[in-house]
Amino acid sequence: MKFLILLFLLTQMALAQDFKQEAPKVAESLKKNLMGNLQRELKENGTLKAIDFCHTEVTKLGSKTNQEFKGKYQFGRTSHKIRNSKNEPQDWILPYLEKFQNKKQTDEGTASFYHKTKQGELIYVEPLWTAPMCLQCHGDNISKNVKTELLKRYPTDKAQNFKVGDFRGFIWVKEK
Ligand code: HEC
Repeated sequence: MKFLILLFLLTQMALAQDFKQEAPKVAESLKKNLMGNLQRELKENGTLKAIDFCHTEVTKLGSKTNQEFKGKYQFGRTSHKIRNSKNEPQDWILPYLEKFQNKKQTDEGTASFYHKTKQGELIYVEPLWTAPMCLQCHGDNISKNVKTELLKRYPTDKAQNFKVGDFRGFIWVKEK
């Protein structure tokens, strides 16, 4: 019996270890797909068109990452200041948003981390920081036509007035 318990514990530890190795790769894949394509879209079609991209393409790029990791994970983006209410934070992440909301990218204690749920599941959480290219749609000097379009699509938009290096939100990754 003791042997079985030990075996069970070792298996659990090995599974947690696998997740810890793979979850950052899932976040990396999402960021790489998104940033690279967004940069190209901004350059080729301009900010206004890229708003569409940020809405529709994100779902498609998510499916691409999903395929890459054989549908093993659930993931999403959230923030203390959200644009799309679909990205509303879940309760478990609220204390972390509170802790990070005034942080800058260069501050101490801003590394990615794992949250353990009451059921003992692990969730990988990675902070997202505001880069110069994000300002076109999330900064404090958004051009008038972009602002109008954002307001039309997201009447309750709070995701503005960010500065370079500001905490913008989290990507989270969880096993299904
Ligand atoms: C072309 C405009 C545009 C640019 C540039 C842009 N975003 Fe966004 N962002 C949006 C839109 C539009 C949404 C809402 C997406 C949706 O409807 O699902 C959004 C949503 C988000 C969200 C999800 C949380 C929320 O507020 O709904 C995060 C996080 C985010 N953006 C971070 C960034 C970061 C970091 C950058 C720079 C690397 C960036 N964005 C660049 C337009 C943009």
